[in-house]
Amino acid sequence: MKLSYHLLSIAACVHVVLANLVVPLEQPDRPSLGTPARVVRTVAKYNPNIIVKADVKQMQDTGIVELHSDYLDIEYTGTIGVGTPPQKFQAVFDTGSSDIWLPSTSCTRCVGHHIFQEDASSSFESIGKNWSLSYADGSYISGRTAKDSVTIGDIHYEGQMIGLANDESGQFAADKFLDGIFGLAFPSLSLTGAKQSPIEIMYDQGQLDEPVVGVWLGRSKEGGGGEMVFGGTNKEHYTGEFKYVKVNNEKYWQVPMDSVSSGSKKLPLSASAIIDTGTTLIVAPATISKHLHASIEGAVFSSIYGWRLPCTAINSTEAFEFELGGNQFAVPVADIVREASADARLCFSGLVESSLPFTILGDVFLKSWYTVFDFGNASIGFAPSKR
Ligand SMILES: *[C@@H]1O[C@H](CO)[C@@H](O)[C@H](O)[C@H]1NC(C)=O
Ligand SMILES: *[C@@H]1O[C@H](CO)[C@@H](O)[C@H](O)[C@H]1NC(C)=O
Ligand SMILES: *[C@@H]1O[C@H](CO)[C@@H](O)[C@H](O)[C@H]1NC(C)=O
Repeated sequence: MKLSYHLLSIAACVHVVLANLVVPLEQPDRPSLGTPARVVRTVAKYNPNIIVKADVKQMQDTGIVELHSDYLDIEYTGTIGVGTPPQKFQAVFDTGSSDIWLPSTSCTRCVGHHIFQEDASSSFESIGKNWSLSYADGSYISGRTAKDSVTIGDIHYEGQMIGLANDESGQFAADKFLDGIFGLAFPSLSLTGAKQSPIEIMYDQGQLDEPVVGVWLGRSKEGGGGEMVFGGTNKEHYTGEFKYVKVNNEKYWQVPMDSVSSGSKKLPLSASAIIDTGTTLIVAPATISKHLHASIEGAVFSSIYGWRLPCTAINSTEAFEFELGGNQFAVPVADIVREASADARLCFSGLVESSLPFTILGDVFLKSWYTVFDFGNASIGFAPSKR
C-alpha cells in the first residue's frame, strides 16, 4: 500500500565538504537461504502479485540451508547507526528498494534482530503513518513511520524517513541474517513516504562531495568483503574508466538491455535490466535464461529446481555478456555456479528464470563490475572490478 508523502524539513546545508566515506561490507558467515528460496524472495520483492510456482511450500522445505562453500557469495551487509546516540544495525544496502526499515520494540516476532529503541533516541520524531509491504504469498512487514538521524561512519544526517516494523510474518522474521534494509533506489518507489533518497539528503546536508555511491562486491574465494563508498568511488577496486548508462525509468536503477550473448551466440533484445545490490542472483525471463544456459553443456531445467549446471562449471573460462546501453558487460560462468543440489553433480545456477518482464542483475553480476550509482545524473557507471 502506497502511503501519502510527507515533506522533509531539512536544516540549512552546512558548507563543510567531507572526504568520501568508505563503509566496509561483510559477508556473514552463517546459514542462509538456498537458491530456490532466494528466487521466491526476489520475485516477491519485485512483484507482490506473482506467486512463484515453486512457492511457499518449497520456501519452507528448502528455506534455510547450510551453505558450506568458499565460492558462494550470498549477502553483503554493512553497519548503520540510527538515532542519537546512534543505535547500530546490520543492514543490506539495497539499490532495489527505496525505504529504510528496522524492527521496533513492538515487534514480538523480531527476536534475534537488533531492535530500534525509539525512547533511547533524543532525535526521534514519530510520524505515525502506517506503512506495509505485503506479498501474494501472505508474507508481510508492517508498522509505523518515523524520522530520525542516521550515522554511517563519519557521515551524519538528519530527517531520514524510517519504517519501523511492528509486525513481520513468519517468513521475514525467520530471516535472522539482517536487521533491516537501507534502500537506495529512487523515492518514487518509497512505501514510507520518503521524498528524497538518503544519498540526496546526505548531499544536501553537505556530507558528500557528489551525490553518488560506489559499490564494490568481493568474491569470497578471493577473500570476500566489499564496500560502499558514499560520495565517490575507490580506485583500488576498479580498473580503467567507467562506462555510463542512463537510467530509463527512475524507480529502480533500471537501464536498457540490448542483447545477451553466450559464446558467439547473441540474442538481440529490447529489454530492461535492474541493477540491484540487494538481490544475490541474476533473475531473467525464460527466453534469456534459456539462451544463456544453452551454451553450457549439461545445463538442465526443471520446474522444481530451476536451472542447474554441472558443478565442474566452477572451472569454466566462458562468460555471459550483457549489453547495457550499447556497452558489453561480461560475467564469468564460474560466478554463476552455486550450491550443489540433491544430485551432487549438479549445482544450482545463479542465473535463474522468472516471469518478471525484466532482468535483475544482482550480486552475481556486480562481483565483476564496480558500480557507481549517480543520483545527480540518474546514470550508472560500470568499470571492471578489481580485488
Ligand atoms: C494503522 O495500523 C494499526 C495497527 O495495525 C491499526 O489499528 C490502525 O487502524 C491503522 N490505521 C490506519 C489509518 O489504517
Ligand atoms: C576445479 O579445478 C581444480 C583444479 O584443477 C580441481 O581441483 C577442482 O576439483 C575442480 N572443481 C570442480 C568442481 O570440478
Ligand atoms: C554528471 O553531472 C555533472 C554535472 O551535473 C557533470 O559534471 C558530470 O560529468 C556528469 N557525470 C556523468 C557521468 O555524466
